[in-house]
Amino acid sequence: MRAVAEARTNIALVKYWGKRGASTLNLPAVGSLSLTLEGLSTRTEVRFDGALKSDELSLNGSATTGEPLVRIGKLLDLVRAQAGIREHALVSSANNFPTAAGLASSASGFAALALAATRAAGLKLEGRALSILARRGSGSAARSVFGGLVEMHRGVREDGEDSFAEPIASDWDLRLVVAVTAKGPKDTLSTDGMRRTAETSPYFKSWVESSEPDLKAARDAIARHDLEALGEVTERSCLTMHASAMAARPAVVYMRGVTLEGYRAIQDMRRGGLPAYFTCDAGPHIKGLTTSAHANEVAKRLAEVPGVLETRVCVPGAAAEIIGEESGTNRVSFRETVSSGMPEVIE
Ligand code: DP6
Repeated sequence: MRAVAEARTNIALVKYWGKRGASTLNLPAVGSLSLTLEGLSTRTEVRFDGALKSDELSLNGSATTGEPLVRIGKLLDLVRAQAGIREHALVSSANNFPTAAGLASSASGFAALALAATRAAGLKLEGRALSILARRGSGSAARSVFGGLVEMHRGVREDGEDSFAEPIASDWDLRLVVAVTAKGPKDTLSTDGMRRTAETSPYFKSWVESSEPDLKAARDAIARHDLEALGEVTERSCLTMHASAMAARPAVVYMRGVTLEGYRAIQDMRRGGLPAYFTCDAGPHIKGLTTSAHANEVAKRLAEVPGVLETRVCVPGAAAEIIGEESGTNRVSFRETVSSGMPEVIE
């Protein structure tokens, strides 16, 4: 009754921001489209154990209670209900990137948890059902169930069964350059920021209306391997999302001076013939979309922006995967993955 899973984080090119309907199902107000990234991953072990009196959580080696444990407990409840079991679980989760850098993502975390918990509970969900489950933990996690380019469907049903992610087949050699600009956790969690935006921003409706045309433009650009078209939609989706958040009351502002300097640097790169496109999320870090031929140059130029602490070139990442599992006396050996370099959760 235990399993270990690994999932990579993803960065949305067409953003998800805002929810629809009953909040317990965590239904997105808009569809979204993302790139799963290799090298920024979460590895999670789940062990159901009849001797435990409550669920327990260890995050990056430290026992954790409070809000993270509550959110994880809710996902475990869904898994227990589906599997018809009652045991509590011990969850050990570790990121292979510094959580303090503020890059920590609920996307890789809840995708790894959904996969490890279902397998430890004896369930074998296919991709769509797994993404629906991961969505209940965090909207962006539904996309981290799959590798490469992924589209999350908004759906229209009240029960959320048509609100799932699926991969977009593509062999495009895209790269995402991540420039870390600050240490420490972000100011406003995305869940809170998007709620405040939906409730108070006069621009929220316009943001929602901009999403479908952007998704279509992104799909078309991907089919044509048209970086300029995908880059344009990536920038405008990001800036429209942030504009709607900034107009919330009180304002939800994630960008800092360095983030905008990064945006300007990327515009300068383009003027000089270097194809790169800006995006950023619920934090101040700069992300540059480009292709393999230009990624190192884009990283070098972003590293020169005053205030950038570190850059990293990310290649498209794989789907969430099981690293090992064990049930009763049936032991299966646990294997290493290339992206490990993180504390082992299994001896
Ligand atoms: C800016 O998936 O973290 O990264 O569903 O409330 O957990 P919850 O939100 P979350 O929001 C991600 C917001 C974003 C854009 C995106 O990833 O699409």
